[in-house]
Amino acid sequence: MSLKEKLEALKVSTSEEIASVNNLKELNEIRVNTLGKKGPITAALRGMKDLSPEERPVVGAFANEIRDELTEKIEARKAELEIQTMNESLASESIDVTLPGKQVRSGSRHILTQTREEIEDIFLGMGYQVVEGFEVESDHYNFERMNLPKNHPARDMQDTFYISDEILLRTHTSPVQARTMEKHDFSKGGLRMISPGKVFRRDTDDATHSHQFHQIEGLVVDKNITMGDLKGTLEVLIKKMFGEERSIRLRPSYFPFTEPSVEVDVSCFKCGGKGCNVCKYTGWIEVLGAGMVHPDVLRMSGIDPEIYSGFAFGLGQERIAMLRYGINDIRNFYQNDLRFLNQFKVSSVKGE
Ligand code: DAH
Repeated sequence: MSLKEKLEALKVSTSEEIASVNNLKELNEIRVNTLGKKGPITAALRGMKDLSPEERPVVGAFANEIRDELTEKIEARKAELEIQTMNESLASESIDVTLPGKQVRSGSRHILTQTREEIEDIFLGMGYQVVEGFEVESDHYNFERMNLPKNHPARDMQDTFYISDEILLRTHTSPVQARTMEKHDFSKGGLRMISPGKVFRRDTDDATHSHQFHQIEGLVVDKNITMGDLKGTLEVLIKKMFGEERSIRLRPSYFPFTEPSVEVDVSCFKCGGKGCNVCKYTGWIEVLGAGMVHPDVLRMSGIDPEIYSGFAFGLGQERIAMLRYGINDIRNFYQNDLRFLNQFKVSSVKGE
C-alpha cells in the first residue's frame, strides 16, 4: 500500500470513529492518537524523505489536507458532544415546579402553656399583676410564712426535695404570697396578683401524681375583701374556663394559710349535674383550693389584719387541662409525644 493509500484509509477509519464516538474523553483520545506527535500523520510526514522529489509535495499537501479535514471533523464533533453533555446535565438538574412544596413543620405552644396563658389573660383583664416566684425556696417562705411551722402535721402532705435543711424545691406556689405581700406598698392601693410556676413533691409518678407539676397561685389583699369577692372572682374564672352555664360550689376544707378554707367544685360539664362517671355520680368536680388569708399569714408579712383582709386560691394547671380535655394520665403532659401534643396544636399558619 502506498503512503497515499494509507493516508486515505486512515482518513476513512478515523472519520468513522469520530462520527461514532459518544463522549468528549474518547474524542480527545482519537485526536491525540491520530494527529498527535506519535500519530500516523506525523509519521507519514516524517516518512516523506524516502519519497522521490516529485512525489513529496503532492503527498505532503495530501497529508496536510487530511490533517485539516480530520481536525475540522473533531472540532465539529466536539461542539456537538458539548451541547449533548450540557443538555443531559440540564435535564438531570431540572426542577418540576408543578410538584407540591415541602411542608414547613412548625412547633406550637404546649397545652400547659396555653392553659396558663389563658388563665393569665383572664386575671390580667381583672387588673391583676402576674408575679414570678422561685422554684428553689427556703423552708421559711414555703412553710413557716404559710403558717406551717416545723412539725406541723400538714407538712406531711407536702414532702419535697431538700437541698439543705433550709433550702428546698417549693411544694406549692403559695410562698409567692408572702414574698409579694411583704414588698407591696399598700399606701398605693391593694394587692391583686397571680403567680404561675413549677412545684415539686416527693410523690411517686402515676396517672394522677407527678413529682413536678404546675400551679397558679392567686392573692388579693385590700380593705374590705370578703368571701363574696372570692366566690365572684372564682365564678368568673371557672365560667371562662369551663363554660358560662357552669356553677360553682364552695365546700368547707382546711389549709393552714387560710381561714376559713374551701374546696371549690364546678358543676359537672359532662352531665350538667345529674351524675355521671366523670363526676363520680356527685354532679360536682373539685377544681381548686381557696380561702380567706389567715390573719397570722398577713401579720407575718407585716400587714395589719384589723385593717386589711384578703383571699387566696391555688389551682393545678394540669388538673384544669385534664378536666377540660378529658386527659386521663398526667404523664402525657411531659412525654413529648407528638401524637398527644399535636391534638392541641394551634397555629396562625393557614392549612396546618
Ligand atoms: N397551696 C395549696 C396546695 O398546694 C393550694 C392552695 C389552697 C393555695 C388554698 C391557696 C389556697 O392559696 O388559698 O395544696
